[in-house]
Amino acid sequence: MKIENFSMKDYGQIIQIWKASGINVGSSDSKEEIEIVFHRNPELFLVGKIDDEIISVVIGGFDGRRGYVHHLAVSPKYQRKGYGTQLINELNERFKKMGVHKVHLFIENDNDKVINFYKKLDWEIRDDLIMMSFVPDKTLYKRNS
Ligand SMILES: CC(C)(COP(=O)(O)OP(=O)(O)OC[C@H]1O[C@@H](n2cnc3c(N)ncnc32)[C@H](O)[C@@H]1OP(=O)(O)O)[C@@H](O)C(=O)NCCC(=O)NCCS
Repeated sequence: MKIENFSMKDYGQIIQIWKASGINVGSSDSKEEIEIVFHRNPELFLVGKIDDEIISVVIGGFDGRRGYVHHLAVSPKYQRKGYGTQLINELNERFKKMGVHKVHLFIENDNDKVINFYKKLDWEIRDDLIMMSFVPDKTLYKRNS
């Protein structure tokens, strides 16, 4: 699998991968919102290609203090072949080069498969924290679009 920076022309394909792999595609995944996150950290938004077909995607972000990982997904027919590991390892290398001290991600607590995937890669479950969220503008946010 060849890893490249995401480009906006890939938008349709990454939405398909997210939907096919069971990720909630919400209001933050509209073309306009994806363009915003892409321009914020273009070198952390990655796609994996086999023979020019996009088969994996991850959005990395760095807010100046912590790194974040969003929407890592591999097309269902390419899962369990090491491609997810390859993509997250490349993202972690890029975080390292940027001097990021720590990276966070969010997994629904019943998603055992993904928890297992990250545990195998030495990610640590934080049982000393709880996540809290706030929606500043209720007209903007939708969990499923
Ligand atoms: C999570 C995901 C990206 C992993 O990608 P992948 O290419 O299939 O993962 P890898 O082949 O690199 O797996 C590495 C290891 O992780 C663990 N793992 C991966 N998928 C697993 C699963 N479905 N069940 C249990 N363990 C799993 C295994 O230990 C695996 O090693 P093994 O195949 O030698 O046993 C992929 O399953 C996916 O797209 N899931 C749906 C989308 C999703 O929920 N993303 C996370 C959002 S928070």
